[in-house]
Amino acid sequence: MKKNSSARKRARRQNGQKTGPKSALTKGLESLAHTVGAVAGLASKTFAGSEPAGAVQMLKDDHARVKRLFDQFEQTESDPEKEAIVQSTIRELEIHAALEEEIVYPAIRALDDDEEHQDKMDEALEEHHVVKQLMAELRDMVPADDRYAAKFTVMAESVRHHIREEEAEVLPKAQEGNLDLEQLGKEMALRKQQLSSQPDARGSRRPPATSRSLKARRGPQAAARKSSTRSR
Ligand SMILES: [Fe+2]
Ligand SMILES: [Fe+2]
Repeated sequence: MKKNSSARKRARRQNGQKTGPKSALTKGLESLAHTVGAVAGLASKTFAGSEPAGAVQMLKDDHARVKRLFDQFEQTESDPEKEAIVQSTIRELEIHAALEEEIVYPAIRALDDDEEHQDKMDEALEEHHVVKQLMAELRDMVPADDRYAAKFTVMAESVRHHIREEEAEVLPKAQEGNLDLEQLGKEMALRKQQLSSQPDARGSRRPPATSRSLKARRGPQAAARKSSTRSR
């Protein structure tokens, strides 16, 4: 009996099967692999073309994602979390703006020669421009800097306003017009994959700061200044 049991275990090992209870590490890795697999499956459905989301829905999904990041920023007191949220937001917005400016806006602009429509598209581009300026400034800042949160908050307000107008006035034009939204969505998905695989859509001018590097950069005086500002 003992010999048979050892032989079975040996056979299981050869087949890659586990012989004992799973370790916490194994369970953790399996859970992570499951999550990554689920996300990859979702991404491939949405972006790889099997069931492509239409252009308008993809843009609205992006809008919802950045609005969630704005909410998260408002809810955290942690500087490293704030910085991570700011960096994620910048990356999301850079890619989103590139998709709109390269693919979606030109298609919508071409739908109508009407001056009001053309002005609306110019305004949308100008709003992108203002947000890009704020993003460029935020890139060179750390949470301990004066007006870091204020700058991000103003940027968030500007983007929320832009999203409201886009969803109320610009995107409906795309849906009413004779646009192939599915095809546009495929082009966007392809471009998004290209941009997402680059280290940074527009080139980060500094590496992400960790809390340790923040302390090193700002020094104890900055920390003391910040805590005295907070206690006022
Ligand atoms: Fe947008
Ligand atoms: Fe936009």
